[in-house]
Amino acid sequence: METKVVVNADVSRGIINKNIYGQFSEHLGRCIYEGLWVGEDSPIPNTNGIRNDVLHALKELNIPILRWPGGCFADEYHWKDGIGPREGRKRMVNTHWGGLVENNHFGTHEFMMLCDLLETEPYINGNVGSGTVQEMSEWVEYMTFDGESPMANWRKENGKEEAWKLTYFGVGNENWGCGGNMRPQYYADLYRRFQTYVRNYGDNKIFKIAGGPNVDDYNWTEVLMRDATHLMDGLSLHYYVHPGGFENKGSATNFSETEWEVSMQKTVYMEELIEKHSTIMDKYDPEKRVHLIVDEWGGWYDVEPGTNPGFLYQQNTVRDALIAGVTLNIFNNHNERVQMANIAQMVNVIQAMVLTEEDKMLLTPTYHIFNMYKVHQDAERIALDIDTKMLEIDGKEYPQVSASASKANGVVNISLCNLDKGEKVTLDLDLRGVDFSDVTGEVVTSEKMNDYNSFENPDKIKPVDFKAIKVNEDKVTIELPAMSVVVLHVK
Ligand code: AHR
Repeated sequence: METKVVVNADVSRGIINKNIYGQFSEHLGRCIYEGLWVGEDSPIPNTNGIRNDVLHALKELNIPILRWPGGCFADEYHWKDGIGPREGRKRMVNTHWGGLVENNHFGTHEFMMLCDLLETEPYINGNVGSGTVQEMSEWVEYMTFDGESPMANWRKENGKEEAWKLTYFGVGNENWGCGGNMRPQYYADLYRRFQTYVRNYGDNKIFKIAGGPNVDDYNWTEVLMRDATHLMDGLSLHYYVHPGGFENKGSATNFSETEWEVSMQKTVYMEELIEKHSTIMDKYDPEKRVHLIVDEWGGWYDVEPGTNPGFLYQQNTVRDALIAGVTLNIFNNHNERVQMANIAQMVNVIQAMVLTEEDKMLLTPTYHIFNMYKVHQDAERIALDIDTKMLEIDGKEYPQVSASASKANGVVNISLCNLDKGEKVTLDLDLRGVDFSDVTGEVVTSEKMNDYNSFENPDKIKPVDFKAIKVNEDKVTIELPAMSVVVLHVK
């Protein structure tokens, strides 16, 4: 069957919020400690304690927003333990993730400094599960109040005279699970109560994010929207691709062709989840004021053999490049409701951008996809229709090709993913509403589906110029290699 894509560059579908390209960094395994924070005295070159190699690599991605400190850790975190002179900070046990001692050397000031260095916005997740209303309220006061108050004075004593600007604040995380095992009615009431004391100081306006559903828990969305829509600005959604299910997720690198197919089908399932949760949200919020915020997503497998099971360290293959490309296309194509997303996680955990080993660092295939797709950040989404073959696994269908398109600065950017592990796709691209003379692109692919970047061979998978483009007046024919992600630039 012929694969056909029609792009109407003069038909706008609204702006793709750059925050869809957000990241997540939790106190988990080697994400914060070692991955980002090495401390000022480390032999690893650093800026105020943040390692330079990772910092420079991440800066290239134009990360718009960074979520912290969890995850499950957020509902065990007590922010007051992480401020003041570092030698005196409380040492606690990170019970959820590996039972290690958390020395609290990376706290609020260090996180805000990291955001400054990355030129990214902070998204802070507060503690509902084991925290108090007062504690949450005082954290916001500490960070954002500029006048005279106990918390503002304390911040000044700790070296930060001016208040920070903080917009995004999460009121709890996964409160149906690690955040307190609550039922939706109970959490909805707690949300209403806690958020009351999350104050706006001066002109700092907090965007309040309620803890949302797990995967397809539509009842959770229904109850939260029914009982608290008027008090929230965003509702989160968490969904991970576990090829073998949650208990036996499967290997990150040593997987079968069937696992590839299941992974692709489970990736595409994100679209159904967004549509169904959005339909419920539409009932209570037809204007789409409340954003759906997919603040945890990614391919999550068994940990790398020999590593701490609580650290969630895994490798990243060309399969992850596809998971990233397809998911970002889905988010782009649902830009009306999905206004933020945060892949889990930025460094050394689950589907990471970069992996580190002592003083070494490598870029993963997922990193390269985020770098190629950054052209869509805050760009105008344009109409795209696709006619593609459907593939099937376990009686469930998924498309062979996924696509999205936007325009910015006079360039139309089209991202295309071939989910098929074995078959290349010849694709007719009909470009309407745009005069162009040049079509270029980059591609990420590999010979084998299990290929990945190792510390011995860190550049095995990286973007290269995409040459399989034929232009004949306004018709473009391209040949997408099997298991590939391509971004085209039409000028
Ligand atoms: O990202 C890892 C964990 O997955 C997070 O801490 C939690 O929110 C989710 O279950």
